Amino acid sequence: MWKDESLAGKRVLVTAGADGIGLEITRAFVEAGARVAVCDVSGAGLERVAAELPGVLAVRADVSSESDVAALFERVDATLGGLDVLVNNAGVAGPTGGVETLSLADWERTLAVNITGQFLCARAAVPRLRQGRAPAIVNLSSAAGHLGMPGRSVYSASKWAVVGFTKSLALELGPQGIRVNTVLPGAVDGPRIRAVIAAKAESLGKPVEDVTRSYTSQAALGRMVTMRDIANMVRFACSDQAASVHGQELVVDGLTQALS
Ligand SMILES: NC(=O)c1ccc[n+]([C@@H]2O[C@H](COP(=O)([O-])OP(=O)(O)OC[C@H]3O[C@@H](n4cnc5c(N)ncnc54)[C@H](O)[C@@H]3O)[C@@H](O)[C@H]2O)c1
Repeated sequence: MWKDESLAGKRVLVTAGADGIGLEITRAFVEAGARVAVCDVSGAGLERVAAELPGVLAVRADVSSESDVAALFERVDATLGGLDVLVNNAGVAGPTGGVETLSLADWERTLAVNITGQFLCARAAVPRLRQGRAPAIVNLSSAAGHLGMPGRSVYSASKWAVVGFTKSLALELGPQGIRVNTVLPGAVDGPRIRAVIAAKAESLGKPVEDVTRSYTSQAALGRMVTMRDIANMVRFACSDQAASVHGQELVVDGLTQALS
């Protein structure tokens, strides 16, 4: 039987871990015996996590706020006594529409969460990871982080930024023994993608079914991926199984070569 115990007892922080992919990542680390903290902006989501996974530290924090992130890491220190793994998962879909229709506020908010949030959390995490056991960072990008995405320019720009940030951190931190990778999910089946599809259908004036079909057919596998697919890759990337995997774009998208 294939067994990996390298994550048992590891201290892990998952941002935006109260719902969606972050929650599935949190479950995967808990199953592996890790000690996990999550942050989120949703109080109701954090209550649900605390009820489902009572051992998980659930902290209200917006990753784009410097003071929230500082307070979050104080809670992590007090409860976990350090950090071995950071999963920079928080990211928002951002606005949908042609570039001339986007507001500066929406543009800036998307960048604030999707890339500045990763910077703030990595900056706080690195001194702690340096003291950690086989430390690792995984930053969530997207298939839109290596492809263009019409109507989602700020989201795509933010996710390309995640790839550049990851590659740079990998070069900086590799010599210190901290591994850094990015995971690029394709369209993940779930409520968020359905909201994105509905927004796209409205902006294009097309039926939701047509846009849904274009999302499923854009992958060579002919379907969306699952949250568990992403959680499995993130967990693998942080385990000793991936001890020499560093600075990589780990794409989990059923082979998607263009985004509609
Ligand atoms: N769902 C997809 O199809 C898909 C595809 C590619 C990449 N991704 C990426 O995966 C990551 C997770 O996506 P998801 O679909 O699970 O997201 P989601 O929209 O379902 O949100 C998950 C959680 O993020 C929290 N959140 C939002 N803003 C936050 C902030 N500023 N600080 C802290 N928490 C915040 C929400 O409250 C929610 O609980 C994101 O980085 C996203 O860009 C998702």
